[in-house]
Amino acid sequence: MAVQASSAKLDARALRSDFPIFEQLIHGKPLAYLDSANSSQKPRQVLDAMTTYYETSYANVHRAVYVLGERATAGLEGAREKVRGFLNAPSADEVIFVRNATEGLNLVAYSWGGSNLGRGDAVVVTELDHHSNFVPWQYIARRRGAEFRVLPLDEDAEVDYSGLDEIARDCNVKVVAANLVSNSLGTIADLGPLVRWAHEQGAIFVCDAAQAAPHVQLDVQALGVDFLAISGHKMCGPSGIGALWGRGELLRSMEPFLLGGHMISSVSIEKTTWGEIPHKFEAGTSPIVEAVGLGAAVDYLQRVGLDAIEAHEHELAAYALGRLAEVPGITLYGPPAERRAGVVSFNLDGIHPHDVAQLLDGHGVAIRAGHHCCQPLMRRLGVTATNRASFYLYTVPEEIDQLVDGLHAVREVFA
Ligand SMILES: Cc1ncc(COP(=O)(O)O)c(C=O)c1O
Repeated sequence: MAVQASSAKLDARALRSDFPIFEQLIHGKPLAYLDSANSSQKPRQVLDAMTTYYETSYANVHRAVYVLGERATAGLEGAREKVRGFLNAPSADEVIFVRNATEGLNLVAYSWGGSNLGRGDAVVVTELDHHSNFVPWQYIARRRGAEFRVLPLDEDAEVDYSGLDEIARDCNVKVVAANLVSNSLGTIADLGPLVRWAHEQGAIFVCDAAQAAPHVQLDVQALGVDFLAISGHKMCGPSGIGALWGRGELLRSMEPFLLGGHMISSVSIEKTTWGEIPHKFEAGTSPIVEAVGLGAAVDYLQRVGLDAIEAHEHELAAYALGRLAEVPGITLYGPPAERRAGVVSFNLDGIHPHDVAQLLDGHGVAIRAGHHCCQPLMRRLGVTATNRASFYLYTVPEEIDQLVDGLHAVREVFA
């Protein structure tokens, strides 16, 4: 196992040996996987934890009285406790397993927003937000007759807080929702002033941490937010599992989101009552093995150390910004390396991002091309799409060199 002590500088080359995906060639070339913001690769520790659980402890949870059922339940609830620790949440009951961050954010929009928003109220999001934290709020605001306000970006493509006073004068702000790390530009937001402002308005603050959880140390109590959503697949865990953390008093006061088995206290023809949190929000059979995988991913990240991961990504972002600037006709988007996680968006003059990404694949380089589920941001940048290279704890500088060599070759094709 290549995982190291948490305070050490991260050794990406050693960590790579934990990831079986890198044991292959792509088009005869070493794989430069620069699409981790889209979804991360999985270490053996996570894969093994899931296989072992299937092989030794699998049964349905919370409803079996035999030994396997008890083991299975302990696995699921153990994973919940790990996620609680990862987020520094006060209680594991406040951690709800969902399919992904999108489902967590929809849960809050439908359940909290559906009951608490009305005419004269406002929801505030930002131009930097992913559709997962933009569209549910836009939709529920419109459905409830509330206003939908979007904080614009400034010249440096960072969220401009200068219009907050005007919004406070005009509207009864009930929800502020924003990401902590942008998936398109990698920007690490300074959410403190926005969270304080939201609470001064009597609003709740919903944090989309899908892109933050893999890269920066999270602490829901220090952030002071009211809800926070993460996705397992972006942080070395499996797909099909995410978590929503919410303040207990808010979760207890909310209506359920999905209805059915497991989430009830009692059911009769006349009336159904809801179970306690987190079960009230976990209708149906849980993503049991996925939760165990997420728990193993949390263990893995904590052993590597989130501070070491963040420092590694700042280094890679600085290196990438420097190397990419050598490519003729390139436009780089986003803040300086010290204010971004390992994400770099760019365009090559006159070459469509999809062509760039497709040609790079022939060089063994995997990057994303598109609007990155951020069409309002793309509009603000004056483009329809960008290329995006994104890095993680297993990324080494040679992969960035491979990208830059590939981009020179792409330019030759279009010369
Ligand atoms: C910032 C951000 N928010 C939300 C999401 C949605 O994550 P998921 O598709 O896992 O629900 C993503 C995924 O790219 C993201 O980057």
